[in-house]
Amino acid sequence: MGHAEFKVASDPAAAPLSLDEYWMPFTPNRDFHREPKMVVRGEGVWLWDDRGERLIDASSGLFCVNAGHCRREIADAVARQLSTLDFIAPFTRGHPKQFQLATRVAELTPGDLNRIFFVNSGSEAVDSAMKIALAYWQAKGQGGRTMFVSRERAYHGVNFGGVSLSGMVNNRRKFGPALPGIAHMRHTHVEENRFRPGQGEHGADLAEDLLRFVNLYGAENIAACFVEPIAGSTGCLVPPKGYLERLRAICDAHGILLVFDEVICGFGRTGKAFAAQSFGVTPDMMTMAKGITNGAQPMGAVAVSERIHDAIFAAAGDGAIELFHGYTYSGHPAACAAGLATLDLYRDEGLFERGAALSPYFLEGIFSLRDVPAVADLRGYGVMAAIDVHPDGAPGRRGHAFQKRLFDNGLHLKATGDCAIVAPPLIATREHVDLIVDILRRTLKAL
Ligand SMILES: Cc1ncc(COP(=O)(O)O)c(C=O)c1O
Repeated sequence: MGHAEFKVASDPAAAPLSLDEYWMPFTPNRDFHREPKMVVRGEGVWLWDDRGERLIDASSGLFCVNAGHCRREIADAVARQLSTLDFIAPFTRGHPKQFQLATRVAELTPGDLNRIFFVNSGSEAVDSAMKIALAYWQAKGQGGRTMFVSRERAYHGVNFGGVSLSGMVNNRRKFGPALPGIAHMRHTHVEENRFRPGQGEHGADLAEDLLRFVNLYGAENIAACFVEPIAGSTGCLVPPKGYLERLRAICDAHGILLVFDEVICGFGRTGKAFAAQSFGVTPDMMTMAKGITNGAQPMGAVAVSERIHDAIFAAAGDGAIELFHGYTYSGHPAACAAGLATLDLYRDEGLFERGAALSPYFLEGIFSLRDVPAVADLRGYGVMAAIDVHPDGAPGRRGHAFQKRLFDNGLHLKATGDCAIVAPPLIATREHVDLIVDILRRTLKAL
């Protein structure tokens, strides 16, 4: 493999960067080496590459930066925290901000999802939720409930629990059989809902797949059903009308825990704090990450219903550790400081409401692309939308070229296969939406 290096235009005095050592995640590294896309600065909805070219961030980084880039309030809070208390062992020791942030998160969650377990990423949140579900059923004397149900095209992170739940084939195919005892329902991308903004009329009956697994495996063996309310990374699959309600009813009828993976949907993306509130369906646990710190510090969390939490606590003797699980960086002081400053911004600037108000204009803009020949489908809800392009040769090739051309034309977004996912920060204005749609249209036409 040859040597690759890159001269950072914004730092002409510096020696060229060697590109050989850093192994980039979820990236065609050799393609990047040939055409590096180097970003050096961010502010609000904007990014700048090393040549000083400005780009609009149309996917909030990776669906994290809901309040916009480089918010001074968050940076200052992290700096203050790091010079006051940089670290404290999270096992058997606490610091006030962990408790403050848990209280603030619990104020945002629906129902009695008021017990908050901190982790460092969405992947860790998912694996933690799986373990909490198993511990709950052991505590309830139903330790036979060890199976999980998830969905095709799901993305639940990259740790082994999450990969096992996931239904995106490229994330699984190189890594063996993953965990046993996981069944996948069909996804909800149905032909009849193509080019339909919001929730489609068709497909609520796909929730009956859960019932098929109840009949096949026995509810007494199923611990939990995991779904993203809107499947994000696979390309914004919005739940059909009635679908989540039906899942909830089947879970209730058969004692199965319902877990919403809100890692992308959470913190305003759907117009409310969580998609659970937007769709009016309350799960038993929720996983979250990304927007919890506006992307400024790695952090995730599991919000757990009091019922589950109390059962696990009751099963452990007084003075005993209730859950043998946690990470060195669970509730890290800097992450908690970032989380508190972020939640202040969301509240003080009314960003969830701002997202809700922007949504119709945003979706109208995206759906105005329906006449472009390269477009195969459009979907969207809240301030998140997906544009499928017709494939050209190998799956994903055109989508990859699309996102690279977008970058060259001044727009950053996340593409998955032949799908581009648009989710600008919630501070975006109508003018920003116009610019995003204009660049998308120009680039799509030239594909
Ligand atoms: C729904 C969902 N779950 C889990 C994850 C994994 O999060 P992380 O990359 O922070 O591990 C993601 C990441 O995009 C996600 O969208």
